[in-house]
Amino acid sequence: MRRLLIAGNWKMHKTVGEAIELVRELKNLVSDVTDRDILVCPPFTALYPVSQELRGSNIDLGAQNMFYELEGAFTGEISPLMLKDVGCSYVILGHSERRHIFGETDELINKKVLSALENGLIPILCVGETLEDRESGKTKEVVERQIKEGLKGISSEEFVIAYEPVWAIGTGRTATPEQAQEVHEFIRSIIEGMFSKNVADRVRILYGGSVKPNNAADLLAMPDIDGALVGGASLKADSFSKIVKFDK
Ligand code: G3P
Repeated sequence: MRRLLIAGNWKMHKTVGEAIELVRELKNLVSDVTDRDILVCPPFTALYPVSQELRGSNIDLGAQNMFYELEGAFTGEISPLMLKDVGCSYVILGHSERRHIFGETDELINKKVLSALENGLIPILCVGETLEDRESGKTKEVVERQIKEGLKGISSEEFVIAYEPVWAIGTGRTATPEQAQEVHEFIRSIIEGMFSKNVADRVRILYGGSVKPNNAADLLAMPDIDGALVGGASLKADSFSKIVKFDK
């Protein structure tokens, strides 16, 4: 019932030339995929050239962050209008690297989510506990707060959630399918409580954290895992296309 979404977060990787090379290769490898959505999120500098390259393909474009204002004196920031202008349909918000390295709070992330929705972008709201949170039994408490604060006041249902346990990001240490499923199911129940059963049934909840070609199928076999947000393995067309084309 929910269409799978396989998304690549390139983080701070790829010059324009490298980005074009990657999507050219990827386009060919996944051109026959019709039963799931594919998304790439290059760095800001590569968005426009990548969007030109993706024209007419089955791959969507997203950004990794944005500011919530539309324009103005906000040196160094990028607005939702600018992202729409270069062909983005999605934007990743509240990634743990934004939260932990750049100090983004739930309040700031919520403003970004509201602005993305108001301006026709689909936000991918990232949530997830640190190792310390998990070991002290606070996983659900942390994830619940991030979801409730992040989605506060929204009136649209066009959003995606990505559960990314911080301890699994870039570490090669993946959550087991059962660990991930437990949190995904919990997230769906929070969405049901905040909105409705109908919204909860339709919202896509992606898993992120060391997703690789060899573990994607097991994770994606879980009933509440509706896709993946892939970091390192999205930087090569070969590995990302294998994840995209995993066998159900
Ligand atoms: O947003 C994707 C992410 O943080 C996971 O990164 O490198 O562990 O797949 P990675």
